Formats: sequence, C-alpha cells, structure tokens
Amino acid sequence: MDFQTRCVHVGVNKDGTFNSCTTPIYTSSTFYWDNLTTHRGFDYTRSGNPTRRALEENIASLEGGTDCRATATGMSAIHSAMFLFKPGDHIITGHDIYGGTFRLFYSVLTEQGLEFSFVDMQDLDNVRKAIKPNTKGIWIETPSNPLLRVVDIAGICGIAKQAGLTTIADNTFLSPYLQRPMELGVDVVVHSTTKYLNGHSDVVGGAVVTRDKERSERVAYIVNAIGQGCSPFDAWLVLRGIKTLGPRMEAHQKGAIELARFLDKHPKVERVYYPGLETHPQHALAKSQQKGFGAMLSFDVKGGRPEAERVLNNLQLFQLAESLGGVESLVEYPETMSHASMTLEARRAAGISERTIRVSVGIEHPADLIAGMSHALNKI
Ligand SMILES: Cc1ncc(COP(=O)(O)O)c(C=O)c1O
Repeated sequence: MDFQTRCVHVGVNKDGTFNSCTTPIYTSSTFYWDNLTTHRGFDYTRSGNPTRRALEENIASLEGGTDCRATATGMSAIHSAMFLFKPGDHIITGHDIYGGTFRLFYSVLTEQGLEFSFVDMQDLDNVRKAIKPNTKGIWIETPSNPLLRVVDIAGICGIAKQAGLTTIADNTFLSPYLQRPMELGVDVVVHSTTKYLNGHSDVVGGAVVTRDKERSERVAYIVNAIGQGCSPFDAWLVLRGIKTLGPRMEAHQKGAIELARFLDKHPKVERVYYPGLETHPQHALAKSQQKGFGAMLSFDVKGGRPEAERVLNNLQLFQLAESLGGVESLVEYPETMSHASMTLEARRAAGISERTIRVSVGIEHPADLIAGMSHALNKI
C-alpha cells in the first residue's frame, strides 16, 4: 500500500466487537486472563495495550521497520534506544544535536558509563577518525537542530557497517513522509511523536522503531522494564494525527520554502539555514536522501541579541514557544530556549549564536507568514 494509505489504515482496526472506524481508547490498566496460562494478547498496560499497539504497528510500517515501541516522550524513546549499549561503550554523534539529547548524552548517560564523541558529522572523515576500539554506535540527527545541517545517512551507514556499529537516527525533523533512514541502512529510528507525527501540539510522545529481532526484543524489554510506554489516550492522539501526515507535510513545506526565500533576500537577515534553498551547502545531498525539505528553518539576523530580541518581540502570527511540527507556526531562540541545556562552548562549537532564531513553519497561508515576519524584521 502507498505511504498515505498506510498512514490512514495500518494498525487502526482494533475493534472486533463493534467494528468501529477509529481505534478505541483502551484505558484499562489490566486485562482478564482466561485461565492460568492464556490471555487475549494483553495482560497489563505497562507491558502492552491495544491502542498503543495500533500506533506502534502504524509507525513501524511508515518507517519500514518490523517493530515499534511508543513511549511517553521523545526523550524516553531516545533513552530506551540507548539501552542497546552497555557501560564502557563509545558512541559517535553530531555536535549540533537537539539540546535535550545532548544533555542526556553529556550529563546523564556519561555518568552511567557511556562515552560520547560530538563531531561535525557533515564530514564523514570526522566520523571515521572518531572510531575507537570501544565504539559501538553512531547517533544521527539529520537535518540537525537548529542549523539544519544534513548528514549523509548512507555514507554513515557504510562506515558503521564496516566497523560493526549500530546506527540510530532521530527522524523527528522530517517524519517518515519525507525521509526513511532505514531504507538508507539505519538500524533503529527514533521519534519525538510530539512533533510532526502528532502534528497538533496536544501531546508529548516518542517512538523507537526497530527492524531486527535482537534489537526489537531488547527495546521492548527495556520499555516494559523501565515503564516508558505512552498512555492509551496519547497513543490515540498520535494515531489520529498521523492520518493527515502527508497532506500536512506538503502544506508545511509550501510555507517553509516561501518564507525561506523571503528571508534570504531580506536586508536585515545575515544568513538562512534551510536545505531547500539552492544556496544551502548540502542542498544536493538533502535532495538525494529526502523526499522534501521539511518545514524547519533557522536564520541569523544582522547584528546580535538586541536585534534578535526585537524580531522575536514583534512577530505577528508566529508564537514564541519551544517545540515544532504543529500546524501553528512557532519561533524560538535556541540560545535561551531549546539549546540552553547545552554548554555555552558546545553551542558556539555547533554554530549557534545570539543572532540565531529557529522557526517551525506551520500550515498557515504563506502570504500571512511572510507578512508576520516582515512586520518584525522592519522593527530592527
Ligand atoms: C529532534 C528532537 N528529538 C527529540 C526531542 C525530544 O522530544 P520530547 O520533547 O517529545 O521528549 C526533540 C524535542 O524538541 C527534538 O527536537
């Protein structure tokens, strides 16, 4: 079945009693056993739940995996996936990953005995050079957050295969509608379903998608053992959101390219970071591994923090908020918001400055988006 058809149908039909069109929300914490050895597929909602399972089947299909575990947040999905490694293992990742992921790796998991190298993954040689005898994995986030650098997924997977490393990709920024890392060789895909998959800014959630038996079993074991699974209601909301993923992504992208072109020409803007612009240094790579360029973009205003603040304080339509991927357009300031959990040195090394503003382009009409942005830039 075509991708969009799978968005609407896979996993959804779970009601054998009344044949309902949408998946019922099974709020039950526990399920009756028929006898000491038999139940109807679910025994306790931490371990498994029919509504959550519907979502898991759906996302696994969209990413081209064989299994998925839907978790309470994107961070819990990332944390669960990291249990594929053991203390003493070394993992290579980008120097400009999401701030919360950086914090989890740099502070929490380093204390637990994992070791990380944060490198500029645009250059595959940096990745090759970072491999050590205890390297066990490569964490990919592409396009990166917030500067939209593109990582060559197939290139990284080639390196990983040669060295026997596990590859994990955070596919939150594009969604499987626009990028399917498993088709390029990635072993595990994670999502913050809070973003495009749900798409309506009314849930936080995550997902870990796997495609081999060993890693699937390990992730399922961990999600149950630690209690990371999402609530049935949250699963239902995400499943509902995914049904319109394709049309939403198309509308998001339409606004994003128009806004990026407007910003690119604006005299008060120093630089625009959007892989859809022909001038983006990795436009060709993005074109080759993505089905579209998505709707996240960042830009540097001319000047410094006062100019950035002036823009942020004068925007119309765009609301100041962290998060992304909802139908409404948001802006945020990585320096004090999404990337405040990175150290200052790490932010600067990643190229995040006091002039940088990140935009999540919603599905509003592009003309209204441009008018709202233009109003703010004219206040500088
Ligand atoms: C790329 C990326 N991955 C993971 C996360 C974490 O997701 P959550 O906030 O749902 O825990 C975020 C949150 O912004 C993100 O942008």
